[in-house]
This record gives sequence, structure tokens and C-alpha cells, in this order.
Amino acid sequence: MRPQEYLLACISCGETYPYNEIVYRCRRCGDLLEARIEGGEVFRLDSLQGRVHSIWRYRELLPSFFTRIVSLGEGYTKLLKAERLAELIGVRELYVKLEGLNPTGSFKDRGMSVGVSMACTLGARSVVCASTGNTSASLAAYAARAGLECRVYVPEGKIALGKLFQARMFGARIHQVAGSFDDALKLVMEKSGGEAYILNSVNPWRIEGQKTAAFELWEQMGGETDYVVVLPVGNSGNISAYWKGFRELLNHGLIDSAPRLVGVQAAGASPIVEMLSRGLDRLPDWPNPDTIATAIRIGRPINWKKGVRAIKESGGTAVRVSDEEILQALRLLATTEGIATEPAGAAPIAGVKRLVDEGWLGREDKVICIATGNMLKDTSEVLVAWNQPQKH
Ligand code: F0G
Repeated sequence: MRPQEYLLACISCGETYPYNEIVYRCRRCGDLLEARIEGGEVFRLDSLQGRVHSIWRYRELLPSFFTRIVSLGEGYTKLLKAERLAELIGVRELYVKLEGLNPTGSFKDRGMSVGVSMACTLGARSVVCASTGNTSASLAAYAARAGLECRVYVPEGKIALGKLFQARMFGARIHQVAGSFDDALKLVMEKSGGEAYILNSVNPWRIEGQKTAAFELWEQMGGETDYVVVLPVGNSGNISAYWKGFRELLNHGLIDSAPRLVGVQAAGASPIVEMLSRGLDRLPDWPNPDTIATAIRIGRPINWKKGVRAIKESGGTAVRVSDEEILQALRLLATTEGIATEPAGAAPIAGVKRLVDEGWLGREDKVICIATGNMLKDTSEVLVAWNQPQKH
């Protein structure tokens, strides 16, 4: 067996780059890049026993070339069966993956462990990102642990206070941008290159870390893939990461078929749903994204091509839910199961309800919802919304 080798490849024209080149977009055609592994061994279900309880238990399918691994023990999050909620919603089995249990309270930590390890390996001194909150909290923490300087760009007045506090606490320099997340990301992509290593999900190494969540589902479900995975979609980095993880399991013969992936967007920020439901071949303009789920308040998802591919190739779908449905789902999950999450993390529950109503999901289906972020990050918006007079 040839030893593991990584390279970066363009998802459109196939142009390749060495793994240690700092490049975020294909220099030939401008499209997205993905990290590809060639050679190397792979784990099996029974070879995972006794390994470290973090993303690094799947080391065969993660970079082996790092000079330093920056970890806070991310990943290996719980998957809880929600029997009462399954019964209420009308599906055979329902599980919730608690990504809010990650070190900084969101799934971003998976990607940051790999991304910041890459920054160290490349000799970067500073890192930067744009964020709706969780990415900035996570990057700030991993940068602190690695001793790197960290700058974050967030939309002014549009991120949850708990997340802003985290970034501040971990010592990041915070720039509040007058505009949306999309404006903040544009600023970072256009202005930061060269000076600081960019760690938004356009960076393929982030996706390498986040794909481990698919390996975990496979392991936690005993090697089975007979379920549908439902995730909130913003930039669509995470849904493409899950798809990459499942594709790698397929390629290594560890599974025969991959689960269908469902992307849920907030109605006020749903360009991907719009694109798929209208059969467009490009993302429509979405100039003023708006939703109570500030984490996914994104009008121009930078990874849309990868996300759309994940949904189509897996045989899944995309669905939009209103803010009211998100808040109801949040409360339903909390009061029937004792599980709480930030609003974006409850969007999958609202999406499942919708899909049951529409007949896309039903009594025969097993469903896994990804609760992407911790409830304590974002309490004020929810409380304010609940204190509004109820519409009858
Ligand atoms: N759920 C939560 C809690 C998030 O923070 C995000 C993204 C998503 C879902 C969507 O993931 O963008 O990969 O489709 N938050 C980013 C941030 C944008 O800056 O924290 P995606």
C-alpha cells in the first residue's frame, strides 16, 4: 500500500495543487477546491475501539503531514435517540446529534482543529475569518491554543452575544462590519489573502475536519446508513463535508450506499432552496438575508456548488422553514426531549416536520437531525421572540 498523499483539486476543471500551497480558489477557473487523499490505509469499525475520543480517531482519513496537531478534544459528540419526538412528528426513528457539545459549542471545532493545524504547519502567524458567530468563536479558541494572532469579521449587530463574547474571551481582534455576513466574507476574501491564513469553509482543510461527523454517524449507528441526515444550511460547507465523509466511506467499501442528505434553510435566507425548487442552474441573488437563526443568515453561500452537489448526488432535498417554525421546533425539542440548541440547530427538526407534512418523509423513515450549536450561545433573540404577543 502506497503511503497517504494529499493534494488540492478543483471541483470543476480538475486542476491540482500541492497540499501545502496557500490557495483558496482554483487559479485556472476560479472554482472551489477540495482536499483529496490518495493511497494510505483506512480504519474499520472494529479497529476504532480504544482510540482517542476526538476527530483524530479517524486519523487514516485526516492529514498525516502536520508538524503539530492543535486539538481541544473536538468531535465524538453524542447521538441521542428521541422517541417521544419521533412519535409526535411521525417518523419511525429520530436521532439528534449534539454538536453543541464540542469544545466551543459548535461543529466548527472539527474543522478548526484541522484548519489551525494546517496554519501551524504552513508557518502562518495569523489567521482570519468572517463569521455569523460560531466560526469566530471557534477560530479564536484554536488560535489561542496555537499561539496565533486572530482577526474575525462579523456583521455588526447581527451575531448572538454569547458568540461575540467567546471570540473576545479567546483574545481575537473583532471587526464589526456594517453589512451582512456576505459583505464580511467578501472583505476577508479580497483583503486578507497573503497577510493571514483564511479559515472560512472555503478553505478545504476545514471541510476535512468536518467530514468526521459522517464517520461518527456511521460508527454510532453500527456501520449502517439506512437513515436520512438533516442539517441546517448557511454557506453549505457542513452539508458538503458530510457528503465528502460518506463518499470516502463508499470509496473505501465501508458502506454500500450513502444516506440521503437534506438541507434546511431559513425562509428569509434560502437561495439554495430557491435554486433547487425552481430548477435553476445558478444560485439566485439574495441581497437581504434575514432570519432569527443568525448563524445561517447568509444570502450568498460560498460553497453552494458543493452543497447542491451533496443534496443531488445523495438523492436528498432542500427545504425552507419560517422563523416561527424554527422557534416552535426549538421549544418542541426542548420540552419533549430535554435537548436544547441554538435556533439554527433546531431548523432540521422544523424541516423534518415540513417534509412529513409534504409526504417526503414518513412512518418508515429513520432520521438524524444535526443540532449544530449550543443553546447557551444565543438566548436573547429567542427570549425576545417568545415575549412578543402571540399571533392567533
Ligand atoms: N448551524 C450553525 C450553528 C452554524 O453556526 C452554521 C454556520 C451553520 C449551521 C451552517 O453551516 O455554513 O457550513 O452551511 N455558521 C457560520 C459561522 C457561517 O460563521 O459561524 P454551513
